[in-house]
Amino acid sequence: MFLNPSLRTRTSLEAACALLGVHPIVLQPGLDAWGWEFRDGVVMDGASPEHARDAIPVLASYVDLLAVRAFAGLVDADQDRADPVLKAFASLSTVPVTNLESARWHPLQGLADAATWVSRLGDPRGKRIVLTWAPHVKPLPQAVPGQVLTEAALLGMEVVVQHPVGFDLDPEVVERARGLAEASGGSVDVVHERDLRGAHVVYAKSWAGWSGYGRREAESAVRAASSSWRLDEVPEGAGFMHCLPVRRNVVVADAVLDGPRSWVPEQAALRLWTAMAVLEAQLGGNGWPNG
Ligand code: CP
Repeated sequence: MFLNPSLRTRTSLEAACALLGVHPIVLQPGLDAWGWEFRDGVVMDGASPEHARDAIPVLASYVDLLAVRAFAGLVDADQDRADPVLKAFASLSTVPVTNLESARWHPLQGLADAATWVSRLGDPRGKRIVLTWAPHVKPLPQAVPGQVLTEAALLGMEVVVQHPVGFDLDPEVVERARGLAEASGGSVDVVHERDLRGAHVVYAKSWAGWSGYGRREAESAVRAASSSWRLDEVPEGAGFMHCLPVRRNVVVADAVLDGPRSWVPEQAALRLWTAMAVLEAQLGGNGWPNG
């Protein structure tokens, strides 16, 4: 179920299905399927004729796995933190549910990112990753930076989050990452200037600041004043990462994306193999050919 657009997640998953003999059915509610209502107790006299309470159990009765993409609304921080669409699937589905990027997390991207770290660095423990905010033309969700921060901390990396004042990540996610880093031997620091010295990985991403969530005009002014955070170079010894899609020469310069320090092509290519791994894990014991 794609409630938002996708290139990599959708095609890597469909290609992974083809390679594993799984039959994918892709639906885009509101485009090629009825539009969905997720709120409980509402009078459904608006544009959406289908309620998630009816649709999810029906779909689950047809398939072995459900997968859903539903981005953050970027209006109400508490609502996005509650991840309501993913939670609706989790509570109403009788089959496993895979997150294709929810309001809070993007685990399939995170798995490919972790595979890239292992491919390029070997054991990622103790390696320094700079997760740097970058400019954009509009506010973006925190699912990817939250996932990167969490996984890097879990894997014992030395994580440095760098962003201008006003672009703070969800404090709950940062605190959780600090706890994971404490257990794994890693560390988490948050600073308000860019310093890429000593980085093994430079991961650029734009996101909307938690404290200015939903205040579009104020956020837009601060964002416009932060265009100098565009990433124009990456130091020797560091690899550059971005989840894509990326706005060239807004977020990062062509020279970085096309240069020898870019790990982005491998990072994107690994989406296929990590999608296969997730399908195997989710479906492996559930009628999989050859057990
Ligand atoms: N990185 C990523 O999830 O790409 P898509 O939005 O194209 O799926």
